[in-house]
Amino acid sequence: MRNIYDAILVFLAFNPFDAYDRNARSLAPPGVGDQRGRAVVHRPAGILSQESLDVTMIRLTDISKTFDEGYSHAVRDLSLEVRDGETLVLLGSSGCGKTTTLKMVNGLVEPTSGTVCVDGRNVTEHDVLSLRRAIGYVFQGIGLFPHMTIEQNVAIVPRLLGWPPGRRTARAQEMLSLVELDPATYGRRFPRDLSGGEQQRVGVARALAADPAYLLMDEPFGALDAITRNALQQELLRIKRELGKTIVFVTHDIFEALTLADRIAVMHQGRLEQVGTKREILAEPATGFVKDLFSKPKAQLELLAAQ
Ligand SMILES: Nc1ncnc2c1ncn2[C@@H]1O[C@H](COP(=O)(O)OP(=O)(O)OP(=O)(O)O)[C@@H](O)[C@H]1O
Ligand SMILES: [Mg+2]
Repeated sequence: MRNIYDAILVFLAFNPFDAYDRNARSLAPPGVGDQRGRAVVHRPAGILSQESLDVTMIRLTDISKTFDEGYSHAVRDLSLEVRDGETLVLLGSSGCGKTTTLKMVNGLVEPTSGTVCVDGRNVTEHDVLSLRRAIGYVFQGIGLFPHMTIEQNVAIVPRLLGWPPGRRTARAQEMLSLVELDPATYGRRFPRDLSGGEQQRVGVARALAADPAYLLMDEPFGALDAITRNALQQELLRIKRELGKTIVFVTHDIFEALTLADRIAVMHQGRLEQVGTKREILAEPATGFVKDLFSKPKAQLELLAAQ
């Protein structure tokens, strides 16, 4: 019985409330992760310089994804690097391919062509469990499991990794405190008993629970009022300062991008329009689309960028 329950848990944890690209990845034999939860790096000698390997932790090379055998492309010829310790924001309007890109980074969607490397190794070569441990994922639309308590929701990846109950409970409580939810008050409640903003904090706590090196966050603060949203953005900046994670953050909100990003990658209709620091993008927009995107609220943006 317990095995069946665990199998369901594994399935849900990898694909909560979301269509799974069944072609993406099968459960390969378990591999080994290091102490920090990063998947072990096997660096092929002589292919990339040591310097570039040290600073580029996620590398997407010429990736394309079609869900309809080439009739249309969700993502097209996209190449992008995420450097160690940075927050890279994927910015673009609805349907431009942000979620698809994020899912290709952690193997939930398989690219039609191109390669995705994490820690210098193709995602398809990582075993699923070490990848789940190395990469925390905050799903678009929260995706908490309604039948589980908040504490159980946060502890789900530690549970999959086989941590003993005492350790995972302690970790869940620590993570709830980190996102400023009192574990004694919230730990035993169910998601329906929390406000939208509180649930989004739980989503962040859950992604952090196994101490992943990488955080992929898909519109984690969407559908919140401006004040709560700003509070959560400030919390994320604090958590980043304290824990030093490498973050890929998806949003369609220009102000959110400018508040959080070290670099911004602007996407449009599946393609990467430009990637750069906010100053680079504001000063030298590479395409007409980027220029238009930032030009309307420009005065306000310059004020923010100068902070
Ligand atoms: N599983 C799928 N099957 C078919 N088409 C899909 C699938 N997933 C995404 N798409 C399509 O790919 C395109 C990009 O979708 P994606 O979810 O990546 O966009 P997004 O930028 O995250 O949008 P949003 O801001 O609305 O979340 C869309 O046209 C979408 O309809
Ligand atoms: Mg999306």
